Amino acid sequence: MSQIKSVEEIAAMREAGRVVAQALAAVKAHAEVGTALTELDDVAATVFSGAGAVPAFLGYHPRWAPVPYPGVICASVNDAIVHGIANGLRLADGDVVSIDAGAFLDGWCADSAISFTVGTPRPEDVALIEATEAALARGIAAARPGNTIGDISHAIGRDARRAGYGILAGHGGHGIGRAMHEEPHVPNDGLPGRGIKLAEGLVIAIEPMLILGGRDEYTHDADGWTLRTPSGRRAAHAEHTVAVTAEGPLVLTLP
Ligand code: MF3
Ligand code: CO
Repeated sequence: MSQIKSVEEIAAMREAGRVVAQALAAVKAHAEVGTALTELDDVAATVFSGAGAVPAFLGYHPRWAPVPYPGVICASVNDAIVHGIANGLRLADGDVVSIDAGAFLDGWCADSAISFTVGTPRPEDVALIEATEAALARGIAAARPGNTIGDISHAIGRDARRAGYGILAGHGGHGIGRAMHEEPHVPNDGLPGRGIKLAEGLVIAIEPMLILGGRDEYTHDADGWTLRTPSGRRAAHAEHTVAVTAEGPLVLTLP
């Protein structure tokens, strides 16, 4: 069962979302050629602790992961798709960087991700990131009462597929609230009209991951967390936490 949030609860989640947005903006501002991913993790940790927020990823241990997540953010560079561990890797010219961050404030969780390049970007990477952001925007636009989860999935997947990008069919977004991962699952590709109806007060994280070259494959790194393309093709990720309201979709993870 997916949980329905009251107007007051959504307002509280908005405050959590604001802090997550601030952390992502600070990380992006700090990232340049030569920056180590651990430094970016420290930047996010500082924003969270300064706001009285509790990192949602640190120590998170879902059933499928061999070890608890060891960082505050996920930093997925180039062919890392998502869940990249913020290790000692230093950013290089032209890298595609995806940063995912989540936090609890007053017991409410928000989860968001951005992708950007450092140094001189490759044109196809700029297009990849724009397509990922466009897919997220279309998914958000479909998050209205009366639509279904499948309408969101279809909105994300259709144009991305047409444009020739790969999508991880088994991965996607999720309900969010008192816990980071709640029902329902929000696939990044699917048929319109399928799945549960979107009710007012449903809050979901919508998170397309697009891969250059059109294939949907991934492997896990030995760290047990990082999802990477076996081909070495680059990927991008974008995510917002969104409330379904009578007035339409309300993005909670904005500054
Ligand atoms: N946005 C990611 C997701 O929903 C955040 C999880 S990162 C983790 O899968 F490390 F906490 F798992
Ligand atoms: Co998420």
